[in-house]
Amino acid sequence: MNTVLAGYGLVKKYGSTTALAGVDVDVRERDSLAIMGPSGSGKSTLLHTLAGIIRPDGGQVLLRGERIDKLGENRLSALRRKRFGFVFQFGQLLPELPAEENVALPLMLEGTPRKEAVARARRWFAPLGLDGLEGRRPGQLSGGQAQRVAIARALAVEPDVVFADEPTGALDQRTSDEVVRLLTSVTRASGAALVMVTHDADVAAHCDRVLQVRDGRISGHSQFTVA
Ligand SMILES: Nc1ncnc2c1ncn2[C@@H]1O[C@H](COP(=O)(O)OP(=O)(O)OP(=O)(O)O)[C@@H](O)[C@H]1O
Ligand SMILES: [Mg+2]
Repeated sequence: MNTVLAGYGLVKKYGSTTALAGVDVDVRERDSLAIMGPSGSGKSTLLHTLAGIIRPDGGQVLLRGERIDKLGENRLSALRRKRFGFVFQFGQLLPELPAEENVALPLMLEGTPRKEAVARARRWFAPLGLDGLEGRRPGQLSGGQAQRVAIARALAVEPDVVFADEPTGALDQRTSDEVVRLLTSVTRASGAALVMVTHDADVAAHCDRVLQVRDGRISGHSQFTVA
């Protein structure tokens, strides 16, 4: 399978702390990769580095074979908006906007007219089990519903890669299971790859592969299904 996103020899230092000490990762088409490891081991730093949010001090990040870690800030942020989708633990939906407009927002930022953006946004509601909730504001949604709207928003631009940092961290076990099931299946069906940080082994088990990170290095790698 083709590699969509790769990191080679990634190093990131914060003063005397080495958050990444030389990490190699590759993410293939429709692949879902869970990143696990103890608190402070470098999981979020790795995710943010692959996503072009943090610039590494050493190594390279390649998206479909092209280096992105040296791009200028404007090109890099345009690339993040177009090619990547993001789901975080909480607080990512704008409280004053209905769900469908939250999902449409990344498309509007790309210049899609509002009406068309909302029409495209609505298509993600049924696959994510959100039918009928298009007009609700985030405050009128349950935690699991809000996370599913956040997933719809990440997928709306039809990104190459969806990045999720503890997407189920604020949910109970049952809701978490439902959300990760939809996150992995709808992302895979959309053709995007998924890179997800989680501390929950049950959540990680929904992914094709798990990377274990320890002290800024890959300490283990397992594959659940044959690619
Ligand atoms: N902006 C920063 N400034 C200084 N140190 C940082 C910064 N971001 C992360 N670090 C340090 O880098 C190391 C890795 O942090 P990171 O956030 O990647 O860990 P993590 O594995 O995501 O942890 P957690 O499970 O707690 O979210 C830690 O020692 C952390 O304190
Ligand atoms: Mg983290």
